[in-house]
Amino acid sequence: MGLVDGKKKGPVIAVDGPAASGKGTIARAIAARFSLPHMDTGLLYRAVALNLWRWGGNPTSEFEALRACDDLGFDPSDAELRSEPVSKIASMISSYPSVRTALLERQQDFARQAGGAVLDGRDIGTVIAPDSDVKLFVTASPEVRARRRLKELVARGMNAHYHDVLADIRSRDERDSGRAVAPLKPSPDSLMLDTSDLSPEQAIAEAEKLVRERLPVANER
Ligand code: CDP
Repeated sequence: MGLVDGKKKGPVIAVDGPAASGKGTIARAIAARFSLPHMDTGLLYRAVALNLWRWGGNPTSEFEALRACDDLGFDPSDAELRSEPVSKIASMISSYPSVRTALLERQQDFARQAGGAVLDGRDIGTVIAPDSDVKLFVTASPEVRARRRLKELVARGMNAHYHDVLADIRSRDERDSGRAVAPLKPSPDSLMLDTSDLSPEQAIAEAEKLVRERLPVANER
């Protein structure tokens, strides 16, 4: 934690990890627990994807994807942001360096706010806020993540099959980890949290423990 205008700055907590690892649940809970603002950075990529999809733009064109970054107003509760076509397009367009650069400032401004912040995504601890006070890297086996994603889809009334969801998770892992810019990988100072055998409550408790160990000042919050 540094100083902003001579005042103590609040903590920045980075929560990275692959699809359906539990990072979003953990980030939201940690933000609430320590009274910090939270940004789900995946939503920015999803908003770009939704823009592109609505115009009928071509996701294999970096140029068209970049245009979809203009005027990025979106409603986080819009169910289409989480639809399967939009998820797939988000994973494709997030590999374009120009798209990542277009979304960089918004995320860094959020991370720099004086009171501190929690951000979750793929590259928070490596690119967006490499000087974060705590970096959590949340993982779970592909099979566990596929079962979680399937449950979410079914709860939303969608018709999905385990093997398709698992194949999709694996191909997204490959795209996210294999891309040249900001690939999904823990930075050497990340604290690893495998949630494969943990309930959401257990995962949150474990994350809170790691934050408190790393950030003694959080014990005052
Ligand atoms: O958890 P899930 O993968 O379903 O979705 P998300 O976190 O909302 O991210 C949507 C897509 O955006 C993913 O496929 C990532 O490739 C990409 N993303 C990224 O590249 N960098 C981030 N900081 C956040 C998301």
